[in-house]
Amino acid sequence: MTEAILLVGGKGTRLRPLTVRTPKPMVPAAGVPFLTHQLARIRAAGVEHVVLATSYLAEVFEPYFGDGAPLGLRLEYVTEVDPLGTGGAIRNVADRLSSGADEPVLVFNGDILTGLDIAGLVDRHVAAGADVTLHLTRVADPRAFGLVPTDATGRVTAFLEKPQSPEEIVTDQINAGAYVFNRSVIDAIPWDRPVSVERETFPGLLAEGAHLQGVVDASYWLDLGTPQAFVRGSADLVLGRAPSPALPGSPGDHLVLDGAEVAPDAKLTGGTSVAAGARIRSGARVHGSAVLAGAVVDTDACVRDSLVGAGARIGAGCVLDGVVVGDGATVGRGNELRHGARVWCDATLPASSVRFSSDR
Ligand code: GDD
Ligand code: MG
Repeated sequence: MTEAILLVGGKGTRLRPLTVRTPKPMVPAAGVPFLTHQLARIRAAGVEHVVLATSYLAEVFEPYFGDGAPLGLRLEYVTEVDPLGTGGAIRNVADRLSSGADEPVLVFNGDILTGLDIAGLVDRHVAAGADVTLHLTRVADPRAFGLVPTDATGRVTAFLEKPQSPEEIVTDQINAGAYVFNRSVIDAIPWDRPVSVERETFPGLLAEGAHLQGVVDASYWLDLGTPQAFVRGSADLVLGRAPSPALPGSPGDHLVLDGAEVAPDAKLTGGTSVAAGARIRSGARVHGSAVLAGAVVDTDACVRDSLVGAGARIGAGCVLDGVVVGDGATVGRGNELRHGARVWCDATLPASSVRFSSDR
């Protein structure tokens, strides 16, 4: 049975303030820590043994997921005191693997929501006889990703991580953050220093003539690395557009977890999720958003495409569109926040202190 490594040690800088107290994979999406969805999909593909490569806020993973038995998994945790980079992290967990040198090992970035056929990726790897197989997807703007051009047979011809110049934009195919490595390739990564699999291992393997195979897949794909993407991913899970065996309810317009209170005349639409202990008061409208545990959306507030952190309070009549409110923050009544505004954890905005329109 193929085993898997999950890379979950990044700092999640672009997601701040959501990641100030919580590592990115533990931020709730559709009611449960995002990592739950990934683990459930990996298990559904037949994988039983998963090693989590942790670093930033490493201590929170094991108390939540334990030995993995409730998910049907055998989970292990390996922590880098100083982050080793993606390649270093993979090498650092090698002694936990039981696969033989020629056997395939799955590796996943810990912030990807996708409908990829995971077992199919392993089959394609074995059929191609590749050293490494990479899941690729096509995106409109590839600049924030690893560009991976392939030849007519799907063999990878180059790997260009986060290209800086227009001449480097040679393809719209990007590294989608799921790989199959032959175990021997993992063992050959240097173990005593940080290594980037994207900037060092893949280009190095190509230069040596190794066989890297690309598998382009058109199923749902999203990197949840930015607030807007995270909110989108959470809503798509609720709506059933993104598949997950771990959705705590049936797919639909909204998801209200046990222990949440929603006023009968409040409106929840567009894949909104409301976590345990959260309250949505009378007349409030919440669209495409995630309201985390214990947060309050007060009377007649209108929240759209936003994330309201744990224990945060959104005052009466507020308008939020494309906003992240950190854990424990208070947005006083009558504020209007838009366009990627980030309210930091525990911050307090006095009533009617921020507006975008000039109507007051
Ligand atoms: N253990 C460990 N140690 N994990 C790490 C480290 C580290 O030092 N650095 C990053 N990670 C984990 C992150 O937690 C994340 O799950 C994954 O590695 C990728 O890191 P990101 O910071 O999310 O990278 P990215 O989104 O900018 O780019 C990567 O993903 C793209 C697809 O979403 C690259 O792999 C790109 O090539 C790719 O296109
Ligand atoms: Mg990412």
